[in-house]
Amino acid sequence: SVPIVLDCDTGIDDSLALLYLLGHPGVELAAVLSTAGNVPVDQVVANNLAWLELCGRGDVEVCRGAEAPLAIDLRTCEDTHGPQGIGYAERPLNSRTASERGAADAWIELTRERPGELIGLVIGPCTNLALAIRRDPDLPRRLKRLVIMGGCVNYPGNTTPVAEWNVLVDPEAAHEVLTAFGTNGAPRPILCGLNLTEQIVMTPQHLARLAEVAGSAPVEVAGVDDVRGIRSGASNSIVRRLTDALRFYFEFHQDHDGGYFAHVHDPFAAAVAIDPSIVHTRPAVLDVELTGTLTRGQVVADEDGFWGREPNALIAERTDVDAFFEDLVRTVGTL
Ligand code: BDR
Ligand code: CA
Repeated sequence: SVPIVLDCDTGIDDSLALLYLLGHPGVELAAVLSTAGNVPVDQVVANNLAWLELCGRGDVEVCRGAEAPLAIDLRTCEDTHGPQGIGYAERPLNSRTASERGAADAWIELTRERPGELIGLVIGPCTNLALAIRRDPDLPRRLKRLVIMGGCVNYPGNTTPVAEWNVLVDPEAAHEVLTAFGTNGAPRPILCGLNLTEQIVMTPQHLARLAEVAGSAPVEVAGVDDVRGIRSGASNSIVRRLTDALRFYFEFHQDHDGGYFAHVHDPFAAAVAIDPSIVHTRPAVLDVELTGTLTRGQVVADEDGFWGREPNALIAERTDVDAFFEDLVRTVGTL
């Protein structure tokens, strides 16, 4: 099985990524590390604990991580993910608290216990991993693979004209992580940026199919034109909460992207972590602009050797979107 360390800022699409990993028979979720981003870190911890408990997976360790980015104040985006980070979903109760060890400790200790085995998956700001690497510069070499959802390569941003949310929240962390990989025996991270993840468009029809697979009372999907037509009548409590979460995300995208759908960035990055062969990649030198007054937080790719540096990363560029959704729906629907 594929042992994955997940670092997230849960978040609606983070929630779906977490459920996808939990449902995937080929995945061992080694730990869930929480970082501030979409919502403050305590909210992220609470969401992670709640989803795990709802799925009967109280055995999975949840670590609390950074409260704030490395060098700047935290910004959050409740307008995108809802006041609690899970849209309109009612948060299930949970009886656990976070692990005693923090997220940076977990990155260091887990990779020491299992050198060369673990796959890192970062779907929030890179703060926890950057803090861990500052303390333990050998860490990148001990990861088998790293997949990052972040940036947008030669493609518009979703938070500034050139910057993507995860990178913009903590540009210093993204810079430190990207430049620590791809050399000295450390793997080249696969960057799943908006250039690809904005093609991963989830629709109400996918939700309806999920409810069908789950054998849940059908999620009502009204005519495609009736954009507010989803009702959360599903009897399965996971499907119901997911539907309530995604309804909020669809509405956000309708207001900002002009359609009742959602870009599910993070579940797609999870799929790449599980099986990198689902995506075509190309090597590049990737770095993050830290000082530009208009361009701070931009991921810049050198694909032509201008900087005279060896490629340190792989840009994810193409995938079979339908195959991804079919696997997502079948996996989450059988939780
Ligand atoms: C990223 O930003 C977050 O809001 C999402 O969860 C995703 O990780 C997309 O830019
Ligand atoms: Ca996220």
